[in-house]
Amino acid sequence: MEVGGIQALRRWSAEQSGRIGLVPTMGALHSGHQALMTRARAEADLVVTSIFVNPLQFGRDEDFVQYPRPIEEDLKKCEEAGVDFVFAPALGEMYPSAPEVRVVAGRMGAVFEGEARPGHFDGVLTVVAKLFTLIAPDVTVFGLKDIQQFCLVRRMIADLNFDIELIGLPVVRDADGLAMSSRNSYLAPADRARALAIPRALDAAAEVALESGAGGNLPGAVEDAARSVIDDAVERGELELIYLSLVDEATLQPCSPDFRGSALLLVSATVGGTHLIDNLPLEF
Ligand code: PAF
Repeated sequence: MEVGGIQALRRWSAEQSGRIGLVPTMGALHSGHQALMTRARAEADLVVTSIFVNPLQFGRDEDFVQYPRPIEEDLKKCEEAGVDFVFAPALGEMYPSAPEVRVVAGRMGAVFEGEARPGHFDGVLTVVAKLFTLIAPDVTVFGLKDIQQFCLVRRMIADLNFDIELIGLPVVRDADGLAMSSRNSYLAPADRARALAIPRALDAAAEVALESGAGGNLPGAVEDAARSVIDDAVERGELELIYLSLVDEATLQPCSPDFRGSALLLVSATVGGTHLIDNLPLEF
C-alpha cells in the first residue's frame, strides 16, 4: 500500500492500469468505512481511499480543529481492507488559497443538514469534485448513512457529467442498532443509550410500513410511528430533535399522502451535544 499527496498520486496513477475504485473519507476510520473499501475492492482492480479533513464543509462553530485525525490507526485499517493507495494530501496542497470557484449544491443542499449548516454541501461537493478530478476513479463507493450527501453526489455526477459509477452501501450498525459514525466517539455511555431512540424510531416506522399494506395515508402513518418514539425521548429529555421527515428520494421533498415510489425517512437529533443522523429507505 502506498500513501501520499498529489505528486505521489500522479506518479502512482501513471504506473497503473485497471479499474480504479475510490472511497473518499475524512479519516477516523471505523468498520463502516472498511465495508466501503471492501466493496470498492470487489468492484475495481485498484482501490484508492482518500483521507482529508475538508475545511470547506465545516461551519465557523464546527469541529474542524477537534475532528479526530488518528492517521497511524487509519493507515492500518486501510491496509487491512486491501487499499492500494491512500491519498492523504496536506491542506495547502488541496487548497493553496481559499477557492473562489466552488460547486453549488442548490436546493437539495439547502434543506435538512444543509439548513442547519449553510455552505456545508457546497464544501462537500467541491472537495468530492476535486477528488474525482485528481483520482479519476471508474467507481466510487459512499455510505448511505449520509444519505443527503449521497443524493447530492449522485446529482453532481449527473449534472457535471462525471463518468463515474456511484455505489451506495447500506448503513452499518453496531450491535445495539446505532448507525456507525466517527462522531459516536463523542458520546458518553449514558448518551449512547439515549441515542438508541433514533434506531428504535426507524424500526417503528419500518414495522408500520410492512404491516399496513397499500392504501390510506401510509406515508403519514409511517412518519407518525417514528415521530411518536422520538417525541417520547424528547419528553424524557434524552435528545433534541432537529428534523424528522419522510421525503421523496429523488427530490428530498416531503412525501404526499398518496406518494408512490422510493422514499427516505430522515432523522437528525442531538444527544448530549453530539449531532447524529440516520435514515431508512422505504418503498411505497
Ligand atoms: O463523508 C465524508 O466523510 C465527507 O463528507 C467526504 C465525502 C469525504 C468529503 O469530505
